[in-house]
Amino acid sequence: MSDAPHKTILVLHGPNLNTLGQREPAIYGHTTLDQINAQLRAEADGMGVELVILQSNYEGALIDQIQQSAAVACGIIINPGAFTHYSVALRDALAAAQLPAIEVHLSNVYKREPFRHHSVVAPVVTGQIAGLGPDGYLLALRYLARHAAAGN
Ligand code: DQA
Repeated sequence: MSDAPHKTILVLHGPNLNTLGQREPAIYGHTTLDQINAQLRAEADGMGVELVILQSNYEGALIDQIQQSAAVACGIIINPGAFTHYSVALRDALAAAQLPAIEVHLSNVYKREPFRHHSVVAPVVTGQIAGLGPDGYLLALRYLARHAAAGN
């Protein structure tokens, strides 16, 4: 057994992502959130990474989780849903956590309505992946597993 400190990565899904699979499938596809989370867990297990996963329709619940995980996690994957476009409170929580963070969007927000082109979160995250569907989460996980420091 390895003595290496394990990595914990926080995965946050924002509002309405609990309805993936039924929600506007032409935009978001047919994959459910449970299926995305199962793919993430399988990938994380293979890398010896622990995941803390939360979906919430409430801004405050996402912020509480970021605050609670800041001391134990080494990175954050977040799809803030519509909060992306206006939640300064979520942005402030991510900035305060001082962790590498990847913003993920299933759809290519830049091909959609103009109000989706602006992310208030983007300036405080490490990077953004948009338009790759569920693969975006897996790519974010691989990046953080490789680049985030363990033992945080
Ligand atoms: C989304 C894009 C947002 O504009 C939208 O409000 C969502 C999902 C995406 O994953 O493509 O809820 O974050």
